[in-house]
Amino acid sequence: MKILLTGGNGQVGWELVRALLPLGEIIAAKRSQTDLADLDGLRRSVQKYSADVIVNAAAYTAVDKAETEQDLAFLINAEAPGVLAEEAKKSGALLIHYSTDYVFDGTKISAYMEDDVPNPVNIYGQSKLAGEQAIQASGVDYVILRTSWVYAARGHNFLKSILRLAAEREQLNIIADQLGSPTWARLIAETTAHILRQSLLERREGGFNSGLYHLTSAGETSWHGFARMIVDVAKQQQNQTVKSRIINPIPTTDYPLPAKRPANSRLATGRLEQHFGLKMPAWDDALKLCMADIADSVHH
Ligand SMILES: NC(=O)c1ccc[n+]([C@@H]2O[C@H](COP(=O)([O-])OP(=O)(O)OC[C@H]3O[C@@H](n4cnc5c(N)ncnc54)[C@H](OP(=O)(O)O)[C@@H]3O)[C@@H](O)[C@H]2O)c1
Repeated sequence: MKILLTGGNGQVGWELVRALLPLGEIIAAKRSQTDLADLDGLRRSVQKYSADVIVNAAAYTAVDKAETEQDLAFLINAEAPGVLAEEAKKSGALLIHYSTDYVFDGTKISAYMEDDVPNPVNIYGQSKLAGEQAIQASGVDYVILRTSWVYAARGHNFLKSILRLAAEREQLNIIADQLGSPTWARLIAETTAHILRQSLLERREGGFNSGLYHLTSAGETSWHGFARMIVDVAKQQQNQTVKSRIINPIPTTDYPLPAKRPANSRLATGRLEQHFGLKMPAWDDALKLCMADIADSVHH
């Protein structure tokens, strides 16, 4: 079985290269081979590789920059997934794709369900929603996984930023009025492997239904709670420099950014857990494992 993976250098993609290994031959195409901003080239590449499964972990993820690069964000996040879906439909491949909590406006009081009506408040969210819709309209066999607040030992993310800032500054000011579930890229990748395996079995047996699922850690916190936990865990690690003593909670209005963010990013994962027989781990447990990995790699 051949699996074509885009975005293999990203947070989730890097983990997918490892987590999908036992499932088949992975073609982790370089950006030069599958540039999502070059739709004709992308189409030709997909045809050339003729994979059984396409896993699209590539995306335009610069949320604030998207406000001024709307066309590029839509090209990569909406049109390119549409091309992947069309080609997968033609060849009979299964498409696995990632989307985001930012498809919602964050005004709901409780966690969002898959069937809640999206209403993105920024360009990135709009482009990701358009990508979901292009895949759903194509008639391809698909699994769309919406995740949130992704971090990893590699790449640019909140965990890495807080570790850096905590080593430099006595005090940190962190937003406390946005809620979500920090989700480790490795958890996303390993959960994807379970989902892919079961989906392939279902397809073989004729019982597969395309679906949209929320995939995040269990539990919730704010960016402030996330930062506090990062600093607490880092303090317990011997080889981590921590200068920060005070972490101040601040409102979103005190930290203006080009793109608006939803206040509530919580995604309910019941549908995924039920369908695939999984139990998502608590966000802080996963965070500790990821931070142990980081500390270990510094130590050795
Ligand atoms: N990060 C989050 O907090 C978050 C939250 C919710 C959902 N998601 C979704 O989760 C998925 C994975 O995100 P991530 O955090 O792993 O993203 P990431 O670390 O930013 O990685 C994105 C990947 O996409 C690749 N890419 C960007 N433009 C491309 C293009 N034109 N052609 C080919 N490849 C291109 C990048 O390649 P280079 O390495 O060459 O730049 C990189 O490998 C995405 O669908 C994202 O929308 C992310």
